[in-house]
Amino acid sequence: MKKDLISIKDLSIDEIDKILELAQALKSDPSLYYEKLKGKSLGLIFQKPSNRTRVSFDVGMYQLGGHTVYLGPDDIKLGVRETTKDIAHTLSRYLDIIVARTFLHQDVLDLAENATMPVINGLSDLLHPCQGLADLFTIKEKFSKLKGLTLAFIGDGNNVVHSLLYAASKTGINIRIATPAGYEPDKDILIQAKELAKDAGSTVEEVSDKDEAAAGADVLYTDVWISMGQEPDRKKRLKDFHNFKLDSELLAKAKPESVVMHCLPAHRGEEVTDEVIDGPHSIVFDQAENRLHIQKAILLKLLT
Ligand code: CP
Ligand code: NVA
Repeated sequence: MKKDLISIKDLSIDEIDKILELAQALKSDPSLYYEKLKGKSLGLIFQKPSNRTRVSFDVGMYQLGGHTVYLGPDDIKLGVRETTKDIAHTLSRYLDIIVARTFLHQDVLDLAENATMPVINGLSDLLHPCQGLADLFTIKEKFSKLKGLTLAFIGDGNNVVHSLLYAASKTGINIRIATPAGYEPDKDILIQAKELAKDAGSTVEEVSDKDEAAAGADVLYTDVWISMGQEPDRKKRLKDFHNFKLDSELLAKAKPESVVMHCLPAHRGEEVTDEVIDGPHSIVFDQAENRLHIQKAILLKLLT
């Protein structure tokens, strides 16, 4: 049966470990499996812009011997020119695997349900699983462990934090989330993450104060206050989030050896200051690089 990657929720701990191990092997030796996906084609359905996700999948597929076809917003016009179902049926006759970046999470689910090939969620409004897996890889690379660490997320309860909630609670990372009122993560995802954390022996905490979240944390993580598609709300969001900036003062509350993470793109001066993102605690470009190694591991896991 074909396997998709829609959410980290659907992966067992063993599957997560195996993806991280494979990514490590690929990072240590980029020539590993260099022809493993020879003759295979990956479709990149992108309704939104992308730097990291698009380029790392494109280059990753090339490094594994395969080929990609980019399908931007004006190409297949998901659900506009024809139904998502018909697109899934048609593309299944040409391609071996798809990465889809959509506005509606339901569009990724519809592609996965109707395609006969694996579908990878390359970011929807609900989730960003490839980012969450690369973040686990990066945290493990820095601390040589995951279990028992504390990650503080400061900002919007969005797609990135939803995937981090699953990633952390499955692997025993304690996660604290500070958001302004009205911008909390999805309630069901919080409930699921709390259940998963119980099994892993870790905690999921929601706090309204960013200092409380950051106190003694190993990882400080933030993301944009205005996600792709939310630009019309920019003025209101800037006002609502102004107390949730990741600056040097906040960084000083975390452990001295803490790291700063951001999935990027960053809106410098909004959710994070230049001083912090360019400073010695920041690992954001290692995090960006690791997207490549993780994408290759995901492709290999789903296609071989
Ligand atoms: N972090 C991330 O997914 O970046 P892009 O939007 O550039 O792909
Ligand atoms: N939350 C951001 C993540 C970008 C990678 C967005 O959805 O735009």
